[in-house]
Parts: sequence; structure tokens; C-alpha cells
Amino acid sequence: MDSGKQITFPLMMSVGTAVLGSLQFGYNTGVINAPQKIIEKFINETWSERYQEPISKSSLTAVWSIAVSIFSVGGIFGSFSVGLFLNRFGRRNSMLMANVLAFIAAILMGFSKMASSWEMLIAGRFVVGLYSGLSTGFVPIYVGEVSPTALRGALGTLHQLGIVLGILIAQVFGMESIMGNDDLWPLLLGFIVIPAVAQCILLPFCPKSPRFLLINKNEENKAKNVLKKLRGTSDVSSDMQEMKEESRQMMREKKVTIPELFRSPLYRQPLLVAVILQLSQQLSGINAIFYYSTRIFEKAGVEQPVYATIGAGVVNTAFTVVSLFVVERQGRRSLHLLGLLGMAGSAILMTIALALLDQLKWMSYLSIVAIFSFVAFFEIGPGPIPWFIVAELFSQGPRPSAMAVAGFSNWTANFIVGMAFQYVEELCGPYVFVIFTVLLLSFFVFTYFKVPETKGRTFDEISAGFRQTAATGGEKHSPEELNSLGADSQL
Ligand code: GLC
Repeated sequence: MDSGKQITFPLMMSVGTAVLGSLQFGYNTGVINAPQKIIEKFINETWSERYQEPISKSSLTAVWSIAVSIFSVGGIFGSFSVGLFLNRFGRRNSMLMANVLAFIAAILMGFSKMASSWEMLIAGRFVVGLYSGLSTGFVPIYVGEVSPTALRGALGTLHQLGIVLGILIAQVFGMESIMGNDDLWPLLLGFIVIPAVAQCILLPFCPKSPRFLLINKNEENKAKNVLKKLRGTSDVSSDMQEMKEESRQMMREKKVTIPELFRSPLYRQPLLVAVILQLSQQLSGINAIFYYSTRIFEKAGVEQPVYATIGAGVVNTAFTVVSLFVVERQGRRSLHLLGLLGMAGSAILMTIALALLDQLKWMSYLSIVAIFSFVAFFEIGPGPIPWFIVAELFSQGPRPSAMAVAGFSNWTANFIVGMAFQYVEELCGPYVFVIFTVLLLSFFVFTYFKVPETKGRTFDEISAGFRQTAATGGEKHSPEELNSLGADSQL
């Protein structure tokens, strides 16, 4: 099955262009971390100008927390709306349209300083959150649908690679000597206009999803032509046959709405798996690091916290690349399990470092090691896998609605961590990471007992597996069975 593993130029161009949307999401996740103090100074100045008195510490914490986390509120709304766009406009055109939001956000944030309005900054963060919420639905679905089965996990991981590169670029640009200073921070936030322009230019040259063309639009010839380009071969009969099989199944489940998704016993199991995997990603505490690491490092006595933050970004990117290369070999299940366990261990290490800091100065180094390994284990599994596995767990009919529910869960948990972390940290002090340890271990247990392997199985085979489970009244699989599901079809 060599043509099934072929990486062609049209395939890479399509995936590369799509993940510019992921890059935007990552950039806006990481961009407010380093310049926190400088933007807080701006908020204080505009406040003083307006009210003739400096802003109180509690109001400043509140305004800042809102500016950080309103991004995820936008994400919640955006991700929940993906179904509305995907079925009507298709995958590629939905991605194209979403860029309107990126342009609006760039204007709001880029001109907030000139207009002396921190409200514009908050509004811009909300709008770019909407864009990012849509992207986290559009990109994994499009990438999953253009990829050959044998490369679906590796290419799906490129969504996460886009995100982590976005975070890293934002961390570097956010350094004081580059754009994280009094004069240039509006440019730092307005930078998102560049990937938006690039995506608008490139997307029209990318093919539409062949699955959307065949299964949703019934345009067989167009689907075939697109597949020939993507696969770089004129014989695409096995892909076509598999899609037609899925299409036949879809006669029964044409387009599944969100309420239908919840009602049907057929989707109960995959939906539970999809939602819990999203929660495992966010409630692992990863964004406590990506939103607040500069402060965490500062508190842990690290002398150059901004550099440590950038170090975390580099480790983050490096391990996403590792995952990219091993995910088709090791499978999703084992990597997710390994990642969760490693993160739990790192969180314990972090707690020790923070708790002993007053007695032992060198604990600040241990805190760096702990955070780096926390991030590394995250990218081995819990970072990339939840995003692309949703597209794998569902067939064409329920896929957009399932992605909306999964995205909604992800972004809600993201919001809770972003909003609550600063406060919980004040309450628990060095023990704040104990909470994440407990959560991580619970997610490990769930994954061990409930998450099936999807590696190497076609979309149709995966949903057939769940149909079988539903038909037998939710008969339980042992962890060994969950592991081997799909392993034989890989060989
Ligand atoms: C994942 C998460 C995102 C997080 C990022 C860190 O993509 O969805 O919230 O910031 O990983 O690499």
C-alpha cells in the first residue's frame, strides 16, 4: 500500500495552508505571557487618564485575567459553531471565511493603544478567540479528510505543530528587545494579519475535501480528481470504495445534529471518549504554563523567567515533532497514556520544587526541569492526540457536531484553567500542581479502560467498531482488546 503513504506536494500544501489557522490559535495563546507587565502598565495609564487615579491591584488582576481568558470565551462560541459552517460551506471555504474574524481582531488589538482603550484589546481577544475556536474544528476535520489512512495521525499532529510553533513565535516576538515593549506591543498583537493574508492567498489553490465532495455533495468526478492529485496516482479506487461505503452508511445518518448526537446510543461511547480526551488535555494544567509561566518561574526564583518561558516553548515544539514521528508506530492510546503519566510525575516534581524553595535555593533549577518535562510529556500524547482523534472516532454524518461538542468541552476547560489559576494558586501556594496530578491520574485510568486504538483503521472501520459495541449493549472491552483493535489492519 505504498500510494497510501505517499506525501505529495498538493497534500503538503493543503495541510500546510490549513495549519496556518492552528498557528494563529497558538500565537494568541502565547502572546500575552511575556509582555504582561508592559500591557498592564498601559491599562494603568489609560485608567489613570480616565479616572484621575491609578487602578487598584484587584481591578488590574481582574482586567488582566479577563483579557487573558476572554480568548477562550471566544473559543467556546467559535468551536460550538463549527457545524453551522462545515455542512453549508464545506471545509476549505469555511476556513477561508473565518479569516474575516482575524482581520477584525488585528484591527481592534493593533489600534487599542492609539485609541487609549483596553476595552478594544479585550474585544479583539474575544474575536480572535472566535476565530481560533472555529479553527480548532475546521483544521483537524479538513486534515483528517484529505489524509491517507496510514498518515492520518502524523498529519493530524501537524495541527498541534502549528499551534506550538505559533506559541513559540509569540514568545520570541514578545521579548522586550523585539516587540514586547511599550512602543511595539500593539504591533505584536496585530501581527496576526500576516498569517491571515497568507491563508487567504493560498487556500483557493488547495483542493476541497474529497469526502465532503463525494459524501455530502455527491460529486463523484470532482472527488476522484481531487484524490488523484492528493495521492499522486491515477488509481484511487480503494480510497473511493472506502468513501462510498461510508456514504452508504450515511444514508441512514445524513447529517447528525448536536441533540441527535446526544440522543443516539450509537454515539454515546465515542462521544464520551472524545469529550474526556479533550478534558484530559486542558485539565492537565498545560495552559497554566502557557499563560502564566513567566510568573511561575519568577515565583520559583528563576533569574531570567522570559528565557525559561522560551525554553518551555522550544521543548514544546521539539516533542511535538517527536510525537509526529512515533504516532503511526506506537499508536494513539499508548502515547496518550505515557504522556499523562509523565505529566503527573512532573507535576509532583514541580510541587516538591515549589515547596522546598525557601530552604533550598537550587530548587529553582528543579522547577525548570519539572516544567520542561511536564511540557515534553504533554506533547507526546495529550497535546496532539485529542484534537485529531475526534475526526477519527466519528464518520462523516456526525463528525461536525461531534467536533463542536468536543471543541466546546476543550475551550470551556481552557477558560476555567485560564481564569481560575491565578486565584487557586494564591489559595494553594506551592501545592497548586497537586490538583493537576490528581486529575492526570484519573484521566490515565479512563484512557486505560475506555479509549480504543484508532491507528491504521479507516473511518468506516472505526465507526463499525463502535456500532458493534452499541449493538451488544455497550459490552465492555478489556484493555488488551482496546490495544489490539486496529493493530491487525495496520499490517
Ligand atoms: C494544545 C491545547 C492548547 C495549548 C497547546 C500547548 O493545542 O489545545 O490549549 O495551549 O496545546 O501546546
